[in-house]
Amino acid sequence: MPLKFVRPAIQRMAGYTPGEQPAPGTRIIKLNTNENPFPPSPKVMEAIRNVQGEQLRRYPDPNSRAFCQMAAKVLGVEPEMIITGNGSDDVLAFALMTFVSPGAVLAYPDPTYSLYPVLADLDEVKTAPVPWLDGWKLPIDALVATKANAIFLANPNAPSGTAVPVDQIEALAKRYDGLVLVDEAYADFADGNCIELVNRYENVVVSRTLSKAYSLAGLRFGFAIGQKHVIAEMNKAKDSYPCDAISIAAATAALADQEYARKTWDHIKRERFRLTTELTRMGWCVIPSQANFLFATVPGGRGKECYEHLKSKGILVRYFDKPGQRDKVRISVGTIEQDDELLALLRAM
Ligand SMILES: Cc1ncc(COP(=O)(O)O)c(C=O)c1O
Repeated sequence: MPLKFVRPAIQRMAGYTPGEQPAPGTRIIKLNTNENPFPPSPKVMEAIRNVQGEQLRRYPDPNSRAFCQMAAKVLGVEPEMIITGNGSDDVLAFALMTFVSPGAVLAYPDPTYSLYPVLADLDEVKTAPVPWLDGWKLPIDALVATKANAIFLANPNAPSGTAVPVDQIEALAKRYDGLVLVDEAYADFADGNCIELVNRYENVVVSRTLSKAYSLAGLRFGFAIGQKHVIAEMNKAKDSYPCDAISIAAATAALADQEYARKTWDHIKRERFRLTTELTRMGWCVIPSQANFLFATVPGGRGKECYEHLKSKGILVRYFDKPGQRDKVRISVGTIEQDDELLALLRAM
């Protein structure tokens, strides 16, 4: 029996399906949700230890100014061009609320991050998924033709790991009146990013997360970069205190330690290359990735079997039970040791 006091939009929707999160302490190699395989910088742990009781007694800074100053320095923008949230999922949620009215349209190339249609359902926004062109190329004409109020573009994309060149995104932003939100959750593992476009196009907003590149998925900290007057509008739609005092201190320390983060990115890129090469040798078809994961077709189309076999042996990868994806698995890049174990199991399979 449907509950009469629940909004029909909520009753109709299924909600987001997160990747499996085994209970803490379970001995498992976790390569299913694109976490960074390395721990956060020791400076992050130190910043957390240094948080004072007084900082917890009081409300946190609603605008995470310490973080915005640090991020502005690292990215070469101004602090007022940055807004923070409780993970980039939160940033995406209040971006949608800011730019797309109920009943209006959100477009995105498809397949992509499965949270976008969930956020749209929550806000009673219509969706216009537009198939990628062959070779995961950006369908600019078709996206513009949707006449959507906003376009969400994950770049690099999930689950494919592919990235479209910045000049293609610029071409889209030029031809389109609505907002182009470039979700750069994985940009630190890629060859390019769209930060520079933000200065030139007021309809471009870039979102980032500390979950992947800074090993802080458990902290929940994300942010967006846009022109000051655009960020000021988003500021009205965000939660009053989206980031707590501990996460602001930790996230600020993480961005300050670029040297540590970059070492993890270099490792992940080297391992990404090694995994791609080894899997290809074993007859897998691997989509060239610009992210910290691979989306690859299992020989014989045995996607589900592969996922289940690995799980039974203590390695979690992601399997999407969706049309066009059932012959594939998505594998987050791990440490050398984790990837060695994965490859040994796959060779034996
Ligand atoms: C494309 C994309 N954007 C955003 C996120 C969410 O990041 P966060 O942990 O900051 O909410 C993910 C997580 O998997 C993702 O794949």
